[in-house]
Amino acid sequence: MRTETEEMARTMAREPGAPVRVALLGCGVVGSAVATKLVENGDDLAARVGAPLELVGIAVRRPGRPRPDVPVDPSLFTADADELVTRADVVIEVIGGIDPARGLIMRAMEHGASVVSANKALLAEDGPTLYAAADANDVDLYYEAAVAGAIPILRPIRESLAGDDVRRVLGIVNGTTNFVLDKMDSTGAGFAETVEEAQALGYAEADPTADVEGFDAAAKAAILASRSSSCSPSASG
Ligand SMILES: NC(=O)c1ccc[n+]([C@@H]2O[C@H](COP(=O)([O-])OP(=O)(O)OC[C@H]3O[C@@H](n4cnc5c(N)ncnc54)[C@H](OP(=O)(O)O)[C@@H]3O)[C@@H](O)[C@H]2O)c1
Repeated sequence: MRTETEEMARTMAREPGAPVRVALLGCGVVGSAVATKLVENGDDLAARVGAPLELVGIAVRRPGRPRPDVPVDPSLFTADADELVTRADVVIEVIGGIDPARGLIMRAMEHGASVVSANKALLAEDGPTLYAAADANDVDLYYEAAVAGAIPILRPIRESLAGDDVRRVLGIVNGTTNFVLDKMDSTGAGFAETVEEAQALGYAEADPTADVEGFDAAAKAAILASRSSSCSPSASG
């Protein structure tokens, strides 16, 4: 729970024009792009948000590792994610996996931070716990990037289709699968060679198991189903 001092600090930080303190957890494929956007689009984001966004720290596994492509002060990198989440208004979690991501998100919320996460595995595994924690701590939890973020689809389901009875959601939700199926269908190429091509082009990871075995799609399907069922008048939860 937040102390009174922490609650006051939180309120003061949200006064009009005060910087919004942003903590970034993870600086890999997604996190490095987020950090770059926060820096390069700072003025535009400030105009849209109504206050400047101040990047207060970036938690990574190896803080001393050179990251020349990320245009931030190297002193912002830290291995102490537990401490970092206690001094932010918004925490962006792009570490991935279940732990320590889950504990860090819970701790951030308990300290009054709203959370943005791209973590489909965690949301599929334990979404209700995170939704309940957001409610209990009166903060926001957004995770559009976890499922087809470029479309986007989660917010339209939650807001635009709120009065609809969603019976089925159909689509290819995994980019690697999309590339492989399209290539096999349009050229007659074999599965193994097409996966190799996807890896060479950077679409598939060095270990493509989560993509080609369907784990990534299953996690996204679970999130889509849980969000869609809350639109359905016949749903219980
Ligand atoms: N890649 C995509 O295209 C994509 C698309 C949509 C959603 N996502 C989701 O976004 C999330 C991140 O994916 P990614 O591809 O960016 O992962 P990634 O490249 O493996 O990066 C993970 C980052 O987390 C840091 N990290 C790992 N364990 C940590 C720990 N215990 N404490 C602090 N930092 C830690 C790593 O630090 P180091 O740099 O020091 O190793 C690294 O910076 C995942 O949930 C993924 O499912 C990814």
